[in-house]
Amino acid sequence: LRARQPIIAIDGPAGAGKSTVARQLAQQLGLLYLDTGAMYRAFTWYVLSQDCDPADEVAVAELLSKCTIKLTATPSEQTPQPPEVWVNETAVTQAIRTPEVTANVSTIAAQGAVRQALVKQQMQYGLAGGVVADGRDIGTHVFPNAELKIFLTASVEERARRRQRDLAHQGQAIPELADLAQAISERDHKDSTREISPLRQAEDAIEVITDQLTIEGVLDKLSALYQEKVVTA
Ligand code: DC
Repeated sequence: LRARQPIIAIDGPAGAGKSTVARQLAQQLGLLYLDTGAMYRAFTWYVLSQDCDPADEVAVAELLSKCTIKLTATPSEQTPQPPEVWVNETAVTQAIRTPEVTANVSTIAAQGAVRQALVKQQMQYGLAGGVVADGRDIGTHVFPNAELKIFLTASVEERARRRQRDLAHQGQAIPELADLAQAISERDHKDSTREISPLRQAEDAIEVITDQLTIEGVLDKLSALYQEKVVTA
């Protein structure tokens, strides 16, 4: 007998396809999708909007109590949409994806006070279970008791190619593959070597390498793992 609904933790480096897969898996299973990266991005957006230096830990920590982040699930019959994100009364769903936010989020996400506040909020989302959460520290730190833990990865080259395709799709300028690969490696390094809750695979997480897989292929694999490890366990 399970006291609460299951929790699925999906961790891995940037560009491995976590958010797309987590969102679709949540929809398939009728669970809530919790995009923890969006929370770090939302707070980063707020810090920048207050003209606060993201590296000034004291000033950043003071902003935590002034910033209420809300994620609203937007269930859709067809392709599931990314969740809408609100900071206080402002909709920031698109604003948190700008290069400016992306460039500053690692600095913010490395700060202890920030992580403490956001992790606490993430744990509250998970109290009743029924959550698919993606991030960097979900299986190791936020939901160590998750019923299923996935570590989703792909080679740097493959992630750079995917990033090129995304940018082309958005009609944006396409950087050289080598430059993208370099930027991805740097972000990996920053996320994996930071002092607090670095990106690492939980001991009981299952590694899924997505280089040779389509999104449908990854989803099939995760659904099968869910059946095996959660439903029939
Ligand atoms: O997944 P993403 O690119 O939206 O994440 C944005 C940043 O937030 C990324 O640099 C790593 C950080 N992050 C984190 O430190 N812990 C999480 N649980 C999720 C994201």
